[in-house]
Amino acid sequence: MRVLVIGSGAREHALAVALRRDPAVTSVFCGPGNAGTAAVAENRPVDAASPEAVTALAREVEADLVVVGPEVPLVLGVAEAVREAGIDCFGPSAAAAQIEGSKAFAKDVMAAAGVRTAHAEIIDNPAELDAGLDRFGPTWVVKDDGLAAGKGVVVTTDRAEARAHAAALLEDGHPVLLESFLSGPEVSLFCLVHGETVVPLAPAQDHKRVGDDETGPNTGGMGAYAPLPWLPAATAQRIVDEVARPVAKEMVARGVPYTGLLYAGLAVDAEGPAVIEFNCRFGDPETQVVLPLLKTPLGGLLKAAADGSLSDRTVLEWNDDAAVTVVLAAEHYPDTPRTGDEITGELTGEQPGPVAGSSSVVLHAGTARDGQGRLVSAGGRVLNVVGVGPDLAAARAAAYDRIGKISLPGAHHRTDIGGKAADGEIRI
Ligand code: AMP
Ligand code: GLY
Repeated sequence: MRVLVIGSGAREHALAVALRRDPAVTSVFCGPGNAGTAAVAENRPVDAASPEAVTALAREVEADLVVVGPEVPLVLGVAEAVREAGIDCFGPSAAAAQIEGSKAFAKDVMAAAGVRTAHAEIIDNPAELDAGLDRFGPTWVVKDDGLAAGKGVVVTTDRAEARAHAAALLEDGHPVLLESFLSGPEVSLFCLVHGETVVPLAPAQDHKRVGDDETGPNTGGMGAYAPLPWLPAATAQRIVDEVARPVAKEMVARGVPYTGLLYAGLAVDAEGPAVIEFNCRFGDPETQVVLPLLKTPLGGLLKAAADGSLSDRTVLEWNDDAAVTVVLAAEHYPDTPRTGDEITGELTGEQPGPVAGSSSVVLHAGTARDGQGRLVSAGGRVLNVVGVGPDLAAARAAAYDRIGKISLPGAHHRTDIGGKAADGEIRI
């Protein structure tokens, strides 16, 4: 099987690595890929957001399967264009991708499907903002009703801060979504979906704030770990039964059947899971910790979800390890990341970690080669260091040992990824 992966981040690097491990996959191409995917796949330049360009590339490389990483191409209709060309595609149509592209659409689907989520109101008239804010609090959640790459959300107990964010969005012509605050630890659950068939992957947890102990602004994600020792298996099953399956069914009922990865971001409290958001694709950086634990060959699974041969009885095999990924971010990320700095150190290959049975790898996110072939930073999130080991503590040690052997001027990273979970400090 020849597989084309669309995108250029660490998620796509992780997908390419996992696809290469599948004996049924003979070739992996990345469009456009990055300096890291060049080592495990054949990079091909492409405008990932162009349905015509992606379809042409899929034909050119004779792909049997196209896997679309990021949300923007999906929202723009890349998946159906590829399918219309007779090539299987892992990814929802533009209409189905509205589950991520429009928070109002997602809320409507959840209401119809009876899925627990935060109460929300859309404000599109600045004159209604103050009255709207009065109906929420003491913790305000203010979102942009559209794609915002995780950065358009402000969660705050400071009404003035909430008001300022909402007013700025309205001024830019963006409708604002006000939401009730959901408490409890967060879970990211990825489900492979084709129509009403839903097969969950292992739950993971992302760390979204830029600073240790969840301080500072929200980012695209500063690190993640899996599995979640504090999440009862019954709760993961409830997420499938009460969230993913009802949503997949509702999408079929609306005539927008879902194909691809349905990512549910949830908060879990004593009453159970409640949805924070859906994404229409693999999560970044959670994919980087879920895929190393999956023993079932990935290419066959994604192909089955794409061509409809996936079954609710599909049983996935997992190894008993834990994985932790730490994001190395450029100076001034998430505001105005500096790029063009040289990255040096222990960047290649799988290296043993400090604890027996542990190891680490480096995945590329925002990297490029400069004119002299040096590896340089080219984005806000530059690298993902992934540690795998027999437990979370060992995986953490492997990731942090490796990140200490890499240098990038001005770079920063969180030091507490997976720390509370490893110490048994997360409770529902
Ligand atoms: P989103 O882009 O919707 O995933 O939001 C980014 C982050 O903001 C989430 O991962 C949560 O940490 C936080 N967040 C969003 N909505 C809520 C909510 N209703 N209650 C509590 N936290 C939220
Ligand atoms: N990890 C958050 C996201 O992929 O949106």
